[in-house]
Amino acid sequence: MWLIAISASLLPAIIIVSSRYRVKVATLCHGALAWASRMLQRKVCVRSAHAFVFSNCTHGKADSVLETFDLYAETHQSVCIGPQIGEGLDELVRRVRPLQVLELGMHCGYSSVRLLRLLPPAGRLITVELDPLTADLGEEIILVAGFKPSQFQVLNHSSAEAISTLHSFLKVDEGTREGFRLVLMDHDPQQYLPDLLALEREELLCSSGCSVLLMKRNQSADDLRRILDHLKTRTDCYSIKTELQFVLEIFYQKESTRSADDSRK
Ligand SMILES: *[C@@H]1O[C@H](CO)[C@@H](O)[C@H](O)[C@H]1NC(C)=O
Ligand SMILES: *[C@@H]1O[C@H](CO)[C@@H](O)[C@H](O)[C@H]1NC(C)=O
Repeated sequence: MWLIAISASLLPAIIIVSSRYRVKVATLCHGALAWASRMLQRKVCVRSAHAFVFSNCTHGKADSVLETFDLYAETHQSVCIGPQIGEGLDELVRRVRPLQVLELGMHCGYSSVRLLRLLPPAGRLITVELDPLTADLGEEIILVAGFKPSQFQVLNHSSAEAISTLHSFLKVDEGTREGFRLVLMDHDPQQYLPDLLALEREELLCSSGCSVLLMKRNQSADDLRRILDHLKTRTDCYSIKTELQFVLEIFYQKESTRSADDSRK
């Protein structure tokens, strides 16, 4: 009896709380479900794209690997970013001219190959993929495209785990360890913000300037808003550099290097 009495008196509060949060909870659940189903589709798709490209491309030629992926996407559902987005991405990479690039979310290896072919001979790509099979297949595609193991590293971990070990993979230049000048995030959009903050905390973003590219294709408007809201509180070091339909480019620069730049002008 007393239970009913307590429940009844709590009812208005419960209704208020649940109606206030229902939308949020629903979008969270929806986001998680959509992501899980995409992951399942992705596995099937990655295997079949890999088989198609492996047997139909000219081995040793990065451009042939990319063209064969595009050919596959003409007749199959594909998780690759495709030629249009690819060319937009190329433009950003050519402008930033990074030496070391970090990619979170490798998928079929398409964007890894696109990035690698634009790096200088001493350049290096570190790519992180949570799913071990996808990581293995992606690694094979990079080798098929003609890149040498010294030019890239595939890390087969969650992004959070990988970030905590990245220091040991960064090349040391003249005794100083320079962070990444380019980071491409194309993994779970809910990890974009925590991973960005972890990269900053671990001093893995180049302090004199780093472009972080957030691919928007799997991202909900909510995920994006959360990131933008956070960045508004950190205008000391973050700014939005480019916003295109497929990507948001965030520019990171540490205050100390920024004011040094300003005083030099
Ligand atoms: C290679 O390409 C042909 C024709 O474009 C296609 O029929 C075949 O299935 C592909 N190979 C694999 C292993 O997918
Ligand atoms: C991923 O991890 C598994 C198990 O730890 C290992 O067998 C596999 O070789 C790894 N793949 C890559 C590409 O590192």
